[in-house]
Amino acid sequence: MYYPDELVEEVRMKNDIVDVVSGYVRLQKKGANHFGLCPFHNEKSPSFSVSGSKQMYYCFGCGAGGNVFTFIMNYENYSFAEAVKMLAERAGVDLPEMEYTEEVKKREGRRSRLLEVNKAAATYFYYQLRSPRGEVGYRYLAGRALSKETMQKFGLGFANGAGSDLVQYLRSKGYADDLIQDAGLAGFDERHGLHDKFWNRVMFPIQDINHRVIGFGGRVMGDAKPKYLNSQETMVFDKSRNLYGLNFARTSRQSNVILCEGYMDVIAMHQAGFTQAVASLGTAFTSGQASLLKRYAKEVLLAYDSDGAGVKAALRAIGILKETGLSGRVLRLDPYKDPDEFIKNMGADAFRERMEEAENSFFFELRILERDFDMTDPESKTSFHREIARKLCGFAEEVERDNYMQAVADRYHIGYGNLKKLVFSYAAQTGFASPAQRPKSGIARKKATPEENRKKSQRLLITWITEEPGIYPKVAKYVTPEDFTEELYRKVAERLFEGLSRREYNPAAIISMFTDEEEQREVAALFNTKLAELETKQEREKALHDIVYAVKKNSYEYYSARLGAEVSAINQVIAGKKALEELSKTHISLDE
Ligand code: UTP
Ligand code: MN
Repeated sequence: MYYPDELVEEVRMKNDIVDVVSGYVRLQKKGANHFGLCPFHNEKSPSFSVSGSKQMYYCFGCGAGGNVFTFIMNYENYSFAEAVKMLAERAGVDLPEMEYTEEVKKREGRRSRLLEVNKAAATYFYYQLRSPRGEVGYRYLAGRALSKETMQKFGLGFANGAGSDLVQYLRSKGYADDLIQDAGLAGFDERHGLHDKFWNRVMFPIQDINHRVIGFGGRVMGDAKPKYLNSQETMVFDKSRNLYGLNFARTSRQSNVILCEGYMDVIAMHQAGFTQAVASLGTAFTSGQASLLKRYAKEVLLAYDSDGAGVKAALRAIGILKETGLSGRVLRLDPYKDPDEFIKNMGADAFRERMEEAENSFFFELRILERDFDMTDPESKTSFHREIARKLCGFAEEVERDNYMQAVADRYHIGYGNLKKLVFSYAAQTGFASPAQRPKSGIARKKATPEENRKKSQRLLITWITEEPGIYPKVAKYVTPEDFTEELYRKVAERLFEGLSRREYNPAAIISMFTDEEEQREVAALFNTKLAELETKQEREKALHDIVYAVKKNSYEYYSARLGAEVSAINQVIAGKKALEELSKTHISLDE
């Protein structure tokens, strides 16, 4: 962390979380908390809660959570320092120059210089397109049915036919040669020195979700190769973690995204009103991009080219979506090659129909698979059925698998019983797929392994204390921070207990101890474990007793296993044994 703790805390306290979040999400007060539709996943009924007293937010649907800094980091895709800076400005708090380490200073400086030079280049290309020299580019784009407004919205530009105009321009603006080259805007060779990388191309600036230009794609005029030339990856351009058009698509508030192959497809879709369209950046779709999409949509509609390469790419993308826990459907674009051509010829309404008819990705896979088999030949047909059975084993959940078995049996006229037998004989060899991992989706869906149960009682205890700080003295009689055997939990408990022993209660400040978004999210989850709703005092006392006992017992076992390896373990074991004996005789009273 580069700002002093006290200052970070001041910024946090001056930015009431309910106020800040209200700027982004419509909230409604319900009991002690405010609720709204989660901005981090798509949902119809509100499970996103913001607590004024805890100064935290938490989504019971997707597990997103944290304090006001986490929210801004997550929503705006800012680093911790950027979030502090933005909220300081919002509240009128003066920040000193950051106490950067030399290395960080250098790296951050380089990053922002790269973004600057990209922006300058985008501006240059933009004006070229609208100048007489760019007329050929302008006519080209207009010929592809893009309106002036669309060209403007996407910041389209033009790189001249020859020479090194961009390099000259950037030099005149004071940018150093090595920066221009590092940004991927120029190449260097002995004969020509530093020269423009993009020639005679219409230019597509590629923006991150905050509309910052991170790279370029350029389409050649005419038939030269390569058709599209893209910037190489740089410190600010990670092709596997950005998507073309996402800066606009993320606010389209649709439950689906439309994934296309090309820049032109995305632009044509947006122009036709489908502002949820995105494309990968001249490389294959990656799992990083899939998790990015998962923040904004539940379902992905694949609008890949209808040629062989497009089908192959779609099959790959389907696999990646599935691993990420997103459902996919495939759009039929025939008789056209891609969304761009489809829209130009058929219009938006026809496209909307195709969206409705989009094919379930599993059936799409089978339909493509079927082409490799000859259904008139019993041997080949049987192989096809075997292949289907093997694929069906990929459904981890029984209900889903069974639904698919029935649907497939119907569709391909296979007896359901026979298909089922076939599936189970495959499963006997390889097993069914294990349930899709849903990383980063909070604690609600995790399986109850013994390990998870142990962690859960630790979480429950921390949540209970943050909801009812009054129970702290009763808990502290038995439990110390060392009893939290998860490192992250222990750090949190240390701060929490230390504060409470001075009658200070400030859970949101604890979150700022961690500058990593994932850690912040985990700490927020720690403060928001779902407590059972208990009616009577007896029930509550019993529950608290059981949780304290479970935490203590786990700690006792944990340290017993470390006797001899850790010097302090012996003390923990002795204290643990004593506390457990006492706890098994007494109950915890919630009376004041
Ligand atoms: P396509 O060739 O399908 O693009 O490539 P397109 O949008 O249909 O092209 P035109 O302009 O309408 O003829 C799809 C995407 O693949 C990448 C680009 O990102 C492009 O948008 N690509 C394609 C390259 O990176 N290099 C190439 O040479 C071709
Ligand atoms: Mn095209």
